[in-house]
Amino acid sequence: MNEYLPGLEGVPATKSNISDLDGKRGILTYRGYRIKDLAEHSSFEETSLLLLDGRLPTRAELAEFDRQIRTNRPVKYNIREIMKYLPSTGHPMEMLQASVACLAMFYPGDECLTDRDMCRDLNYVHNMSVKILARMATLVTTWQHIRAGYDPIPPRKDLSYAANFLYMFHGEEPDPLLARILDACLILHAEHTINASTFAALVAGSTLTSPYLVVAAAIGTLAGPLHGGANQKVIEMLQEIGSPDNVRPWLDRKLANKEKIWGMGHREYKVKDPRATILQKLMLDLMKHRGGSVSPMFETALTLEEACEERLGAKGVWANVDFYSGLLYSEMGIPSDQFTSIFAVARCAGWLAHWREQLKDNRIFRPTQVYTGERERDYVPIAERT
Ligand code: COA
Repeated sequence: MNEYLPGLEGVPATKSNISDLDGKRGILTYRGYRIKDLAEHSSFEETSLLLLDGRLPTRAELAEFDRQIRTNRPVKYNIREIMKYLPSTGHPMEMLQASVACLAMFYPGDECLTDRDMCRDLNYVHNMSVKILARMATLVTTWQHIRAGYDPIPPRKDLSYAANFLYMFHGEEPDPLLARILDACLILHAEHTINASTFAALVAGSTLTSPYLVVAAAIGTLAGPLHGGANQKVIEMLQEIGSPDNVRPWLDRKLANKEKIWGMGHREYKVKDPRATILQKLMLDLMKHRGGSVSPMFETALTLEEACEERLGAKGVWANVDFYSGLLYSEMGIPSDQFTSIFAVARCAGWLAHWREQLKDNRIFRPTQVYTGERERDYVPIAERT
């Protein structure tokens, strides 16, 4: 095949049995399990193990994985020291990419990927996956305090992944409903077939680089506003709109200028993203729990979604995962520039599952190109150039 398809739309980049989506029916499954069931009944820990191992764990397997995750939460103090030298105005995703890359220097061992005997050592792959997953949350929350000039809050071993994240972020145990909602958000963001960041992880992984650098490559890719960065943009957009009354004139202006509506549209879904439906429901659950008291931005978002349906639905542009996630994170007291970092914490499970799958039958990615430049020109010495 030598036809060039921009954005590789519709071009299979790999074979995978990790997740699948039906963009016409709005169905997403991880290892064959519907996302709705996982968000309702599973935990981020269980879903991560499902993604990594390919099957739902037994009670004992899950307990052991959970123990490993809890034990690996601390990061060496040198990482915290490095963070102190980063500009506090830097974006958390830039910090996260830099810190994850640094972890590779403090926790080496990637010779396991190139040593002939140890290559594809499942133990190594599992242990690295645990370490990276466990430490992602610590890096994100550590930065929250360091950039404000405070000491970070050490992780706790007695809390679930989601509850510990909120604890390290705020320094107090979270409302159990908020911890449960974050748990569901992490599940919903954990995996999504071959998206841009997962593809970046696969390309990096195929070179047998260290798993930290695999994840760092993926973090850099997730950060862009056309991918994971959209959740931050959604909140900024809702703030700019201000109130439900302003939605329609605002939307008219944006569409007339051919501007993007953040949190809308998806390459694969031509109906509402099933994750957006679940996140919207979680927002309603929280509203009920709080006696109706949530940010007025929710009302603006509902009106915007309705107006977008009328104007963009025919093009197959509907709310995606980023449309409601930021609203939930705001309700958890998380600043908008940290939303994409939470996405990265969750998606790390999917990246690592794909890294493992890639290693099983690895061949380095080396696609071709359609060359459109000049051919074999004569070199002109600088004195003769005009
Ligand atoms: N707002 C307004 N119009 C949109 C739109 C949006 N968010 N997303 C797509 N469209 C329109 C495009 O303008 C195009 O219209 P046209 O055919 O009249 O030119 C049509 O829908 C197809 O869009 P296209 O950009 O070709 O889709 P894509 O598959 O290349 O891009 C996204 C997919 C996700 C990058 C795109 O929808 C987008 O930029 N969304 C906003 C960012 C976002 O929320 N990203 C998170 C994704 S989970």
